[in-house]
Amino acid sequence: MAHTLNLVVLFSGKGSNLETLIERFHRKKIGEREVRVFAVTNRPNAGGIARARHYGIEPIVLDHTLFASREEFDEMLADTVASLRPDLVVMAGFMRILTPRFTERIEAINLHPSLLPLFRGTRAIEKSFKSGMKVGGVTVHRVTAELDSGEILDQACVKIEPIDTIESFTEKIHRVEHTLLPDVVERLLSSL
Ligand code: GAR
Repeated sequence: MAHTLNLVVLFSGKGSNLETLIERFHRKKIGEREVRVFAVTNRPNAGGIARARHYGIEPIVLDHTLFASREEFDEMLADTVASLRPDLVVMAGFMRILTPRFTERIEAINLHPSLLPLFRGTRAIEKSFKSGMKVGGVTVHRVTAELDSGEILDQACVKIEPIDTIESFTEKIHRVEHTLLPDVVERLLSSL
């Protein structure tokens, strides 16, 4: 029998992207293989925990504040992810800067709410909105030790209209994320 495809999703916040991945892939088949979604968070109070439980998935919580250093946390995170035998690791709103302790052991992809290489790091939606550009967007890229700089796998544009507010633009960004990320994940899982 074909083995399952293990999709490990790392998140820190409300988990709307985690939920779209669960809805699209958990217990569904890609070719002959069934996908199983695992969820890992660094925040014990992340909203995504309740969302995952709703689908019968109990997230693993690794509270980064309980570790003495960034490296120690990354080491434990890498051990935890590796123990799940992942076929694909996705960072969907995982708000931690990762050191080589993690990136040298685990291959992962990341969702970022701007058209990289523009607006790396935090508050990317706000930076795009305030930039004066008429377009922002969303990127899915490979994770490297250098923040938001790995190979770009796909991108989508989001128009910034004169009537947009930061709230309406943020909503448009999330809507686009919720199709772009699952589409990339499906492409990658299908190629395994
Ligand atoms: C998403 O907009 C994602 O692009 C962003 O966090 C949000 C998580 O939303 N990620 C980053 O900013 C990474 N630097 P969610 O918790 O509802 O999926």
